[in-house]
Amino acid sequence: MRALCWNGINDLRVETVDDPRIVNPHDAVLKVLATTTCGSDLHFIDGYLPAMREGDVIGHEFMGEVVEVGPEVRDVRVGERVVVPSFIGCGSCAHCRNDEWSLCDNTNPKAALQEPVLGYPTAGIYGYTHAFGGYAGSHAEYIRVPFADNDCFPVPDGLSDIEALFVSDAAPTGWMGADFCDIEPGDVVAVWGCGGVGQMAQQAAKLMGAERVIAIDRLPERLAMAAEHADVETLNYEDTDSVLEALREMTGGRGPDKCIEAVGMESHGTGAQYAYDRAKQALHLHTDRADPLREAIVACRKGGIVSVLGVYGLLDKFPMGVVMNKGLTIRSAQQHGQRYVTTLLEHAQRGELRTSHLCTHELPLEEAPHGYELFKHKQDGCVRAVFRP
Ligand SMILES: NC(=O)c1ccc[n+]([C@@H]2O[C@H](COP(=O)([O-])OP(=O)(O)OC[C@H]3O[C@@H](n4cnc5c(N)ncnc54)[C@H](O)[C@@H]3O)[C@@H](O)[C@H]2O)c1
Ligand SMILES: [Zn+2]
Ligand SMILES: [Zn+2]
Repeated sequence: MRALCWNGINDLRVETVDDPRIVNPHDAVLKVLATTTCGSDLHFIDGYLPAMREGDVIGHEFMGEVVEVGPEVRDVRVGERVVVPSFIGCGSCAHCRNDEWSLCDNTNPKAALQEPVLGYPTAGIYGYTHAFGGYAGSHAEYIRVPFADNDCFPVPDGLSDIEALFVSDAAPTGWMGADFCDIEPGDVVAVWGCGGVGQMAQQAAKLMGAERVIAIDRLPERLAMAAEHADVETLNYEDTDSVLEALREMTGGRGPDKCIEAVGMESHGTGAQYAYDRAKQALHLHTDRADPLREAIVACRKGGIVSVLGVYGLLDKFPMGVVMNKGLTIRSAQQHGQRYVTTLLEHAQRGELRTSHLCTHELPLEEAPHGYELFKHKQDGCVRAVFRP
């Protein structure tokens, strides 16, 4: 089959690789109908996340049609159209039973690569480094899905492939970010980042009852999209000397009650701190640029919640004193997709959750390297490039 392979930093190529097959009795094989880029992919494409190997098939957000099931698959049928969360859950370990699917104890066969850093390994994920299991990714004609009964969710008839596609990762990630905020009536929620994840977090915060949502980014087309689809107020950080001052002013001097960071380790910034982070990252002295995370912590009102969705490795100048003295709660996780998919499909069916506008570019798989160029450099208004193998 044809698949998009990582061949080194910034070197993606569509190549012919072996077809996936049923390996374990709980597996299914899907024909991929739609698969999309994610900000998380940029971190290893740009070389900030290690443990990729030449020839790895990338991609972790997808939906497709079931073409084969293993002998112990009970609920999933050949011919069904399904969406699959990007983190793989076994469904029976303590973490899966606790609805913490990205923490599954059983789906990372390369746990030893993570343990020295994390202490305990996370779940595996498709197409996302050997430290996260070394699974083949979804930018391919076919993909193997382990534990199919837990991880394949039937797509209701009224939903298009593209609408369902974003329920695999961007939507549950954003939803989880808002869920972590314990939103109460009257809350003002600020969201850093208007990529797919940030926009989904903004919609989720509104659906959960936030009174106001303030969306922060520097790309006018993304801010406009957020305003149109998530009914947010926007703040372009390049148009203000200080995001902190602007937020203070917008919230009557109090600060946002809840802050969601949806940018991650490759953030941009404007000040001296950003120049320092960039230099250290370039020299591999630490991996991350963290302007928006630090900003969210300082901007948040006293006693508020900061919910971190952006992916981070190692960063310094983490303002722990601010967290402590202001009595903040920091919450974070890789997405627990299986916890939210059913709810999200229902919201999408009722037209309350709007996802398909994130697909700004639809391309055949052969053009995936070009799709990643558009996505990475945010060219031509690209929010998500979707490939149709
Ligand atoms: N927790 C999870 O399970 C999970 C799942 C998916 C993605 N992610 C992570 O979420 C982050 C966002 O993903 P995405 O796909 O939306 O990425 P994206 O690259 O499409 O969007 C990031 C946005 O942040 C904006 N930005 C950059 N610097 C900023 C700053 N200083 N202040 C405000 N906005 C700024 C960019 O302009 C861009 O619009 C990434 O780090 C990704 O790895 C996490
Ligand atoms: Zn993703
Ligand atoms: Zn598990």
